[in-house]
This record gives sequence, C-alpha cells and structure tokens, in this order.
Amino acid sequence: MDIAHNPIAPEDAPATPAEPPVILRADYKPFPWLLPETKLVFNLGLEKTRVLASFKVERNPAAEASNELRLNGDSLTPARVTVDDVTVEDYVMDGPDLILTVPGDSHTIMIETEIDPSANTTLMGLYASNGMLCTQCEAEGFRRITFFPDRPDVLSTYWVHMSGPKELFPVLLCNGNKVAEGESENGQHFAEWHDPWPKPSYLFALVAGDLVANSAPFTTMSGREVECNIWVRAEDLSRTDHALASLHHSMKWDEETFGREYDLDLYNIVAVSDFNMGAMENKGLNVFNTKYVLADPDTATDADYDGVEGVIAHEYFHNWSGNRITCRDWFQLSLKEGFTVLRDQLFSQDMRGEAVKRIEDVRILRAAQFPEDAGPLAHPIRPDSYREISNFYTATVYNKGAEVIRMMRSMAGLERFRAGTDLYFNRHDGEAATCEDFIKSIEDGAGLDLEQFRLWYRQAGTPRVKVRQETARDGLTLTLSQTVPPTPGQPDKQAMPIPLRVAVHSRATGQIGEEQLIVLTESEQSFTLPMAGPDPVVSINRGYTAPVVIEHDVPLEDLGFLAAHDDDPFARYEAMQQLSVGHLVAAASGELDETQRAAGKTAIGDALAAILTDEALDDNMRGELMLLPSETYLFEQMASGARLADPGAIHAEREALKTALGTMLKRELEGLYARTASVGFDDPTGRGARKVKTQVLALLAASDPEQAAGMAAQQFDAADNMTDRQGALMVLCGIESPQRADALKAFFDRYTGNDLVIDKWFTLQALAPHADVIDHVKALAEHDDFTIKNPNRVRSLYMAFADNPAGFHDPSGDGYRLIADLILALDPINPQTAARFVSPLGKWRRIEPKRAAMMKAELERIAAASGLSRDTSEQVTRSLEG
Ligand code: PHE
Ligand code: ZN
Repeated sequence: MDIAHNPIAPEDAPATPAEPPVILRADYKPFPWLLPETKLVFNLGLEKTRVLASFKVERNPAAEASNELRLNGDSLTPARVTVDDVTVEDYVMDGPDLILTVPGDSHTIMIETEIDPSANTTLMGLYASNGMLCTQCEAEGFRRITFFPDRPDVLSTYWVHMSGPKELFPVLLCNGNKVAEGESENGQHFAEWHDPWPKPSYLFALVAGDLVANSAPFTTMSGREVECNIWVRAEDLSRTDHALASLHHSMKWDEETFGREYDLDLYNIVAVSDFNMGAMENKGLNVFNTKYVLADPDTATDADYDGVEGVIAHEYFHNWSGNRITCRDWFQLSLKEGFTVLRDQLFSQDMRGEAVKRIEDVRILRAAQFPEDAGPLAHPIRPDSYREISNFYTATVYNKGAEVIRMMRSMAGLERFRAGTDLYFNRHDGEAATCEDFIKSIEDGAGLDLEQFRLWYRQAGTPRVKVRQETARDGLTLTLSQTVPPTPGQPDKQAMPIPLRVAVHSRATGQIGEEQLIVLTESEQSFTLPMAGPDPVVSINRGYTAPVVIEHDVPLEDLGFLAAHDDDPFARYEAMQQLSVGHLVAAASGELDETQRAAGKTAIGDALAAILTDEALDDNMRGELMLLPSETYLFEQMASGARLADPGAIHAEREALKTALGTMLKRELEGLYARTASVGFDDPTGRGARKVKTQVLALLAASDPEQAAGMAAQQFDAADNMTDRQGALMVLCGIESPQRADALKAFFDRYTGNDLVIDKWFTLQALAPHADVIDHVKALAEHDDFTIKNPNRVRSLYMAFADNPAGFHDPSGDGYRLIADLILALDPINPQTAARFVSPLGKWRRIEPKRAAMMKAELERIAAASGLSRDTSEQVTRSLEG
C-alpha cells in the first residue's frame, strides 16, 4: 500500500485537530519485540540524507504476545520497507507510526527513509547547524530519523555506517568506537562505528562536520586509557581547556565518590550552536550547546565557567545514571535526571566549596521549581500523565528530583547511602529501570525504611512546615505541623516524611547548639531539643535538608543573630533572606506603617553592615549573603496563602530597600569596593572579589546612580575579564546615563561575531530594570543579529525579558503581549522552545486581578490559534485549566 491509501492521510483529518492523546504511567506495557542489534547506514547530505535501518526482531518473552510491530515515526514517509528481504506494500500508517503485521517469532526488518536536515528547524532528529550535521534524539527525536520502536525500554546495540562528502564533513562521529574508515569515489568518505553497549534509541547520536579537537587521555582506576576529545570549530579551539579539564575531574570524581569507571576507550564531546537544551548524554558522543563548552576569561564569566564544569559533569555522570541504567518509560525521567543532578551538585560542591554551591542550588530551586509547584503546571517528580514528554524536562523532575534523593542521603548518612547506590548500580546495570527500583535499592542497600517516603514521588506541591517553640524544663519543645498544598489533580495530600537538621543556639551567651537530624512524619509532631543557653534561637532546616517552606515567626534580633553567628553557612544566608523577605512582603502588602518600615530597613542594614565588614568571611560567601531575594522569589512568598502577588509593589519596595541600604552603608560599600577592586584577576581571592564588587555597584546604583555609573564605567573600561566587564555593563544598563550607550556599543563592537557574548549583550538589555525596557526589547528583536531560529539567541532576549518583572509585568500588559507574540511566531519553527515560554503567563491566577486578566487573555489568544504544536497546546491548556 502506498501513502495515498493511508487511512489517516492529511486530507481526511478533521479541521480542528483533536486534543493530543494523554499518555498514562499506569498504561505501561513492555514492547512485544526485542531488537538485539540495529544497523544504520547513513548517506549524509545537508539537504538530503538517506537512512537505511535494519534490525532483527524477536518475540519478547516478558511481554504479551502480539503480531503487531509498531514502529514510531514523526514527519517521515517510508521509501521502502522489507520484511525478511521481501518488499512490503501493505503496511499500515497509524498517524505518524508505521505498523507491520509479523506473525512469526523472528524477522528481519529493513526500512529506508529520506530526510532534509537543512529544513529541520525543530532541532530534534537530524538537523544542520552552522554547516554541520548533528542529531538530538531525547526524548522522541529518533523517530524523525527512521521508523523504530522509539521508547527507552527497547535496548539494542548499534552498528553504524556513515558516508558523505569529505570536504563538507571531514569528521564523522557516532556512538562507541570507530571500527573502520576510508575513502570512496567522488570525494566521498565513510566511517563505521560500533557501540557495544545496548542502548535505547534516545541515546543515539551522529555528528558530521568540519571540526577540530582538544584531546587529552584519561587513565581510569583500572588503568585503561580513554581518549577524550572536545570537538569544536577551529576558531573556538582556544576556549576548550576548561571543558576538557572538567571532564577529567568528573571522571576521577565519579570513580572516587561513586565507584563508577568509564566503559569505552573513547569519549567525544561536540559543541553545536543550535541546541534546544544544555547538552545531551549520548553514549560516548555527548552533544553540547556551545554555551556549556566554550570559556576563556575574556569571554566567559566565573558563573559561565561553573556552568561548563557542572554540565560537563552532569552529562558524564549520565554514563552510569542514565545510560548503563536507563529509564523504563519517560515517567521515570527523574530516575536519571534527579539522581544525575544530585551527582553534579555534589561534584561541584567538592570542586568549589560546599556552602556557596548549596546556596546557589537552593536559589535555583526556589526561583524555578517553587513557582512550578505552586502553579497550573505542578506535577510530581514522577508524573502520572503527559501529552508531550518534552514538557516534562522541568525543574521539578530535575531539581526537586535531586532534592528528594539528597534527603535519602541525609537520612542514611554518606556511607550507607553509598551502599545503596552501589546496590542500585549492580542490581540494575544494563536495564531500563524505574524510580521504584531506585528507592528499593536504597532501602535494601542503605537499610532505610522508605515506605512513607515514596510520597515524595507521588505528591506534587511544596510542603509548608509551621514551627512553634516553647521552652520546657528539659529543653526547647518544637511543635512542627505540615501541610502540602493542593495541586492540579491532587486536592488532598498525605503527610510526608521531612528530614530537618536543627540546632538551638543561645543569643544571650552566643553559644552554638549541637546539630541533630529530626524527621517530621506526622501532620503535627513535637520534638524536644537540648538548649545551648538562655534566649534560645532555633536554627532549622540547616543546609536545606528538605525542599520545604518553613513558616516561623522569628524576632528581628534572632534573625540578626543567625545571620551573623550561625555555624551553618546556609542558615546564615537563610536568616538574611528571611529578614529581607519578611520586610519586603509585608511592605508590598501595605502592612507596615512608616515606623515599622524604617525599623525593618534598619534591621536589614545592621545585619548587612556586619556582613560587609566581617573579616573572617570569604568574599564568595559574602557575595551570597549580600544578595537580596529576587523579585520572582518575593512574588512566590507574597502569593502564598490567600494573598495575591503585586509585582509593581514588590519592585517598588525592593528598589526602595536597595536605595536605603546604599545610602545607609555608603561608607562600608565604598570601602569594600576599594579593597576588592585592587585584587588581581589571578589572585586566589580574585573570584570572590569580583563577585562582591559588582554587588556593591548594584546597591550604590540605587542610592546614587551618577556615582555608580561613573564607577561602573571605570570598571568596564579597566576590566581584563568578562566577569568584571559584564557586571559593570549590567549595572550601567539599569541606569539612564550617557555611559550606558557608550558601554553597550563598545561591548558590541569588541565581540562582534562571538555568538555567546552577543547573547549576553541581548540579555543585559532585556534584564535591565530600565523604564523603557519593553521598547528596548522590541528594537532588539529587529536587530540584524537577532534570529528566531537560534534558541540561545531567542532565550537571550525573551527569556531574560520574561524574567524581568519590571518589563514583563508592566501595568500596560505590553510585556505579556510580547511574550505571547513570540510564542505564536516561534511555535511553527521550534515548538519545544516555544512551549517553554508559556509558564511565565501561567502565573495569572496568583497575581492581582488587573494583570491576571491580561495574562489570561494572552493565553486564550494563543489557545485560539490554529495549528498549535502539541508542546505549546498542552502547556496553554494546562495553564488555563489550573
Ligand atoms: N538529557 C539531557 C540532560 O539532562 C537534557 C536534554 C533533554 C537534552 C532533551 C536534549 C533534549 O542532560
Ligand atoms: Zn540530565
């Protein structure tokens, strides 16, 4: 049968496409067929690539028998299909999938397809980027290359033959080891690759292009030598040393910390400019967004260096947590992602200091995951249903998933946790596993009872823990009560086990109390703790042991004590945050009179003064303590309970606090600036100095913009590194001053042609708390260097803008319209990236009524558009339903 007889051909399709089907976790069934080996032959061309896939299918004894062989496809037409070497005409197309009826026990299937990578703007499957070819197959991109059982529980070994014009594609890379290569006629050449490790199709990768490598071998714990290569365009080679060093550090760390050794003789990383996400852990051939590979001091900030190190580690760690043990189905995504995020966080803690990294990770959780948990897109870390799996690569699955496993680690202790992960790796090596398999392994290996703990996998929503304290005869009695808020589809929640590290200090004597771990398991429960002396001050959720919100009325002087003296660095940070959050939320809600307002500012000013001048503090930590809570976080805090958020009031109050602090602490800030500005780039304390310096400018910018603009312009001109330069430009971007335009122009001219730095140029302007930011963004969208086809560029302008409350929440509603217009324009080009812009609008239910109505109207306008992708339509529908 040919495609014209397809019963679900486009001409028969209904005018309004039905809602995409909902996939349920409960419906999982193993695939009826096994595919022990897959052979792929690629004839590569930018506009035309032919793919010949052949594989043997055998009945899967663990599955219900069926004569149906469903091969997933997406935007593909079969050019030829054979079963046991006989051409088949009567295959059936079920939507995008190809269905064969195969009655016997074992068959050889061969399928030929033809694709146009240059026309592929979705960046899923095989696509062209900067003249090279590359692939992205997670989660369901392989089905855009060939018809295949494109599901993570079908594991196969791959043998790949790739050929193409040598001049265009001098380098041909694939998973595993290269087993042959050579030249053929007409300037063509070929390479053959074999990956001995069975893998699901989402881990397949291929790259063909004009690339050079930075290489250095790594010797594993058993003495094997692994060739490590970072492949980039020739002009980028000088910026790859940090990536390569990070890879070696990761390999060593995983051996030492989790006992995991690398399992191939080759590890390739390729940097591409057009990529939807950060990077991808394809077996032996990681494909990376250039943003997480390239770094040198002139073009990358200290934070960019950390990003490279963290993502290189993350993808490397997937080799065990993801590739050797993969996921049974996509509902188990957190099995690989939550665990791997935890592993990369622990690695970065070891590389650059535990305290600061922990604070950064909590900040990310609160900025990205808390809003998700509180909004219409809330879902458990192991979701129960989805329409488009790409929408579930979320902060919940990744970051909350990591927190959940971190809690297991805290409860087990490091040694027993390691016994648990050892058991997991040994028990499930080579399998497609479930979250339940992981929990059971930790239970058995670490000797923990995780029965009730499993709720963390099932229930969405951020638990809130209310703390009451009472001095008793034998110590301090803490009464803790928890609630887990209702979330879509989950109106009623059960009490969760919540591990909390606590200590009780004494404010009168300054004595620091001894820490212990308590686990709250009931809705309400009391604990009696030893006191260190009179005037007890409770330090709770130290190190942020549990991803919860603590509700505790702490007097200002106790918060001041904790901020200055707590022995747990996270607790110090938290006390500073609480001081500011308490003040700002109350002020923005109109709950403070002038006296209270002034008292709040004074308390924060006093605490900050102590931090600015504390000589025992390292500047990296000082920088964390100086950071005011973000407007997004304040939005979350204000919108909890019955209150609605008012972004205008939050912005105004936060700016007012900055002005007050800048004025109050002028002398301390200037002193700190003078000290840190004189520290050289290569000084061991240089990094902390750079961090503090720009924060000083940001505070001074609010109290004395002219002075700050002068200092920032000077820092900008004198900078010998990107951290100082970007920091200065960021401050200038928020100030209406002549230096602003000059610095922006100088920056642009200096870095013309460097995409990653030009991204910064877009971001700094879109993020600025400038009165005209909406007009700036509209003008930037018309700039010659803006393109909607490159996800980094789109994010650099529009994600930054959506993160800028002063612009996005402009009372006119123009910010909402701008983002909705972007979604509509981007959806036909790159649905995955378009769908990620829906969630900012999805906050409408928690915001004051005027803005809420405008946000909702924009969502409805998107929903009414015809031909929306499954990605965007799912997010918009959920955001409107709530
Ligand atoms: N699996 C990748 C990671 O977390 C993320 C990713 C998902 C990349 C989907 C591309 C597409 O490392
Ligand atoms: Zn990952």
